[in-house]
Amino acid sequence: MSTFKVCITRKIPEIAAQLLTARGYTVDMPAEDGELSHEQLITRVAGVHALIPLLSDTIDREVIDNASGLKIIANYAVGFNNIDVAYARSKNIMVTNTPEVLTDATADLTWALLLGVARRIVEGDHFCREGRFSGWGPLLLLGGDVAGKTLGIIGAGRIGQAVGYRARGFRMNILYSDPQARLQFEKECAANRVSTEELLTQSDYITFHCPLNEQTRHLINAQNIFSIKKGAYLINTARGPLIEQQALAKALQDGHLGGAGLDVYEFEPRITDALLELSNVVLLPHIGSATLKTRSDMARIAAQNVINFLEKGQALTPVY
Ligand code: GLV
Ligand code: GLV
Repeated sequence: MSTFKVCITRKIPEIAAQLLTARGYTVDMPAEDGELSHEQLITRVAGVHALIPLLSDTIDREVIDNASGLKIIANYAVGFNNIDVAYARSKNIMVTNTPEVLTDATADLTWALLLGVARRIVEGDHFCREGRFSGWGPLLLLGGDVAGKTLGIIGAGRIGQAVGYRARGFRMNILYSDPQARLQFEKECAANRVSTEELLTQSDYITFHCPLNEQTRHLINAQNIFSIKKGAYLINTARGPLIEQQALAKALQDGHLGGAGLDVYEFEPRITDALLELSNVVLLPHIGSATLKTRSDMARIAAQNVINFLEKGQALTPVY
């Protein structure tokens, strides 16, 4: 039994604290839901051996410098752009994430957005609730076809591939762009690897599954957004800053894009007014991994990363 101290920055499923306290660790997790400010975070990390932050907590030099005993940052997310990983690494601090357990949940939500925006599900729901449904109409709420269309996947890692496997049921043509060739995926889904430029001009639906870093920030921007095939739909369940929000709003307002389904935002949690005003945009509050089982699995993996690393020097899912 040990006396390790762990800070969990926000209330997450109980299993994390249960696993840690069962090992004799001291766990500091807020009893009520609510986000910590950067100042509170800096105070809370003093003296801890492990930190379990959320994707909305910025773990920068200041936080790391205030945690002199810190050994591991076990992010409660698959993405880890909220952490200054290079700095953590230079201080010999392990960084882990929660891959795999959220792949299906995120791929499912991507499809919910894709179908939702193509078939105008949210508009139709509002229409009914407003009491406007007065009978079947030949021109009522006409949307886009999905079956047989071309799906462009930017980033064919676990989540991107899971989205692609689901597309087989819709007989879609699959294109993907990725720094790596994904041969088994190509074979099983008849997917073709192309450049991002080509993907943008050929795809009817474009979905983002790459990590956010300095190479991918504003991957879609004012310069290239109009090279996207006219009428295409963009779906983003990855990270908001992959798409320059101003350029997206303009391409939607001009009618160049058919629509967008968004779970993440450039200035999250703020959403640009222009997007809020458009009816061909479906907006969700970053809920890609939000199923009961997935969130609990993420908590278990974050805690297990902490335990394995502090006790055996070996994390389950290190990011480097
Ligand atoms: C969610 O966005 C995650 O990275 O887990
Ligand atoms: C995330 O798990 C990914 O590899 O897409």
